[in-house]
Amino acid sequence: MNDSFDSKEFRQVLGHFPTGVVIISGLDGAGKPQGLTIGSFSSISLDPPLVGFFPGLNSKSWPAIAESGFFCVNVLAASQSDLCWRFAKESEDRFNGVDWSNSPNNSPKIAGAVAYIDCAIESSSQIGDHLLIVGRVQSLEAVAGAGSPMVFSKGAVVTTSQLT
Ligand SMILES: Cc1cc2nc3c(=O)[nH]c(=O)nc-3n(C[C@H](O)[C@H](O)[C@H](O)COP(=O)(O)O)c2cc1C
Repeated sequence: MNDSFDSKEFRQVLGHFPTGVVIISGLDGAGKPQGLTIGSFSSISLDPPLVGFFPGLNSKSWPAIAESGFFCVNVLAASQSDLCWRFAKESEDRFNGVDWSNSPNNSPKIAGAVAYIDCAIESSSQIGDHLLIVGRVQSLEAVAGAGSPMVFSKGAVVTTSQLT
């Protein structure tokens, strides 16, 4: 990195941009569920329907999920901060005790999420120290009555009244 560039300041300033929080999930080659917390998720294109996110090059879960060719985007509810942190921390089995079912493309749908977006991997390209993963949406669902989506700002899960 450029010596004049302060990575702490980069994180601190970019933390002022609030994001939603998703868990990207999929099955690895052994059929075991894998997932990681992602804030860099975005809608990209309507026609064709494309979404994307940026996993770090050192992500362990993403290469395991990518083997399947598919993934599911689980949009977390405001009440799911335990899952937000669990899927961001090192663990042998992040799904231990987590209630999930199969999405149409066989990726894990985590119970309690406010929306699910099932995708086939369209492309993967390296940008700096991250990958840009583009997914082609195959099916999607907003869950009625699932509550408000999670919002993350300045390093913490916040309620919208805290977005000052
Ligand atoms: C709210 C939040 C958002 C995150 N967003 C990203 C992200 O967009 N890209 C990324 O690479 N890591 C992100 N992380 C960090 C990963 O979840 C974390 O590095 C995780 O341990 C990666 O797991 P893995 O090595 O099993 O893939 C985020 C963490 C949190 C708490």
